[in-house]
Amino acid sequence: MVKSILFVCLGNICRSPLAEGIARKVAKERGLDILIDSAGTSNYHIGEPPDSRSIEIGRQNGVNISMLKGRQISGSDSKFDLIVAMDRQNYANISRLGLGNRLVMMGEFGLDEADIPDPYYGNNQEFKMVYDMLYKAINAMFDEVLK
Ligand code: 4NP
Repeated sequence: MVKSILFVCLGNICRSPLAEGIARKVAKERGLDILIDSAGTSNYHIGEPPDSRSIEIGRQNGVNISMLKGRQISGSDSKFDLIVAMDRQNYANISRLGLGNRLVMMGEFGLDEADIPDPYYGNNQEFKMVYDMLYKAINAMFDEVLK
């Protein structure tokens, strides 16, 4: 039984905090009691709030992530039942840490694309696309993994 999920991207300010917020909302809607968190593979944005564009696209969809703070994945994250990587680069870097968790790619669930594209250098349209991909993938993941 999956009781805890960690979403991981590079900076933990764009994709994975949005994934965390969406997953918390979907879990609540489905009445599931699951520990949900997010982290980055890099140390670039430790302690920072999510990117304002992620906060905004979340807000537009009823997902409040403004209180989240960036952190880097570490050894203590081996406690999570499932780690969900946002792209192949994140997947490779997480694998290398050897935490021993079950590790999957977000794109395995309900999407045609392997990677959730990094929107950091993009515009609001990229953030909207990322939101839509995450919403679809997380619902598909809950259907498959948490049934
Ligand atoms: P994220 O996006 O991995 O989705 O949080 C990025 C955030 C920051 C950087 C790259 C990607 N950066 O290079 O600082």
